[in-house]
Amino acid sequence: MALQQWDAWKESIIESTGLSPATIFTIVALAVAFYYAISGFFPSSDHAHHQRSRDFEEQTQVLPPPVQLGEVTEDELKEYDGSDPKKPLLMAIKGQIYDVSQSRMFYGPGGPYALFAGKDASRALAKLSFEEKDLTGDISGLGAFELDALQDWEYKFMSKYVKVGTVKQAVPVNDGQANDKTIEATDGEAKPAEDDASGSAKPLEDDGPSKGSEAGADAPSETAAAESVVKSEADVDKKD
Ligand code: HEM
Repeated sequence: MALQQWDAWKESIIESTGLSPATIFTIVALAVAFYYAISGFFPSSDHAHHQRSRDFEEQTQVLPPPVQLGEVTEDELKEYDGSDPKKPLLMAIKGQIYDVSQSRMFYGPGGPYALFAGKDASRALAKLSFEEKDLTGDISGLGAFELDALQDWEYKFMSKYVKVGTVKQAVPVNDGQANDKTIEATDGEAKPAEDDASGSAKPLEDDGPSKGSEAGADAPSETAAAESVVKSEADVDKKD
């Protein structure tokens, strides 16, 4: 009975396709083999999915909470340029250091803004420059537009990242309200530091990234950045 059915089925296949069942079987087997051979070149959607979720996990990996560093020197800051994946990724603007680890895709090795990592990039950001010479916290001689742009960057960083410290300045410079004490102390004795006279001494920007400028309390003092520069220039003029 079954044999008869099989014969009938065989004949109907031959009739309709003109091919023997053996040939059809061979074609199907080849098609399947071909499919697997070709699909081997592409990651299966399952594999792609796993890859994607692994990437996502890496990106959203729970970052260790930012560690407050206090005052660090520029050299110490360089250690946080992302070359050591165990260390946080840090970047400074106007002497204020921010933990930018969450944006490793920007500032991490190979990222478009990796050159800013581990540095005070104030000048570069103000001038929208990627030049090596502008990778510095020295903002002397910048124009009003550049200082404005820098201010915007600073606000962006303040709202997006956690401030973890300040850059220790090699030479203390009087160019802001926070340094008024220094001015008073030296008033009459010595003239205020020639902050923009040369490029040799790194001027301390605005409110002076020394103790006491905690995150959150910065905004008002930051807005005085440009004014304070003008003020200090006026001071110098008066003394002259
Ligand atoms: C062709 C010009 C540029 C284009 C198309 C561009 C594009 C972008 C884009 C799409 C982002 C990501 C924004 C976000 O997701 O929040 C970004 C971020 C950034 N850009 Fe640019 N950019 C350009 C030039 C510059 C220049 C000249 C600088 C500074 C010298 C700069 C500094 C930055 C920084 C620091 C960030 C990261 C900000 C953060 O941490 O959130 N960019 N840029």
